[in-house]
Amino acid sequence: MELPRYEDLDAVRELVWERLEAAAQEPGHPYRTLTFGTVQEEAPDLRTVVLRTVAPEDRRLQFHTDRRSGKVEALRANNRIAWHGWDPETRQQIRLYGTGTVHLDDEVAMALWESQSPASLTVYVRPPSPGTPLEVPEDGLRPVVKSESVTDDDVAEGRQHFAAVRTVIDEVEWLHLHPEGHYRARFKYQPEKETFEGSWVVP
Ligand SMILES: Cc1cc2nc3c(=O)[nH]c(=O)nc-3n(C[C@H](O)[C@H](O)[C@H](O)COP(=O)(O)O)c2cc1C
Repeated sequence: MELPRYEDLDAVRELVWERLEAAAQEPGHPYRTLTFGTVQEEAPDLRTVVLRTVAPEDRRLQFHTDRRSGKVEALRANNRIAWHGWDPETRQQIRLYGTGTVHLDDEVAMALWESQSPASLTVYVRPPSPGTPLEVPEDGLRPVVKSESVTDDDVAEGRQHFAAVRTVIDEVEWLHLHPEGHYRARFKYQPEKETFEGSWVVP
């Protein structure tokens, strides 16, 4: 496959947001699962999450998680976050930086909960908290959510453990490993202009 060459900063910025927006709609998209970074007691921490919603006009990416999880605790202590994705087909890496907020029982959490299929909410029907030590390996889920067809009623109990994490991006980094030469661009959000200002940097 011949890879397109991107030499226009505005086109790169739009491409990154368009692809993120598509990823939130398409299971299997290379950016559908991204690495999400937080800071925990001054140390970096990373994990994979599923990208659930993207709103380019508000610079926003959202995912859902267990409100008892380590990442929620980390975000409460330090709201700086990073995202990372690598698409081996188009040979592009993205790194996004910004802040994150945890939403438990407000309209943000409610809207995300309601937009999700029961199958994607089964992980919250888990009485013990994530990270609790176990004597033997087990998943901690209630049997009712392990059937082939779970319903809204089956997962309702999980609402008490569900959180939406909303991140707002203030810097984007893009790297293209093109066979004819690598290009890298950086975009920083300018609050006074309400736009991302881009520049090319050495890869
Ligand atoms: C493909 C994949 C998708 C995942 N999606 C999510 C997700 O959307 N939300 C989430 O909280 N954890 C998700 N996880 C689990 C996290 O990577 C992580 O193990 C868990 O959330 C505990 O992280 P923490 O201790 O840093 O809070 C996913 C893991 C994988 C491998």
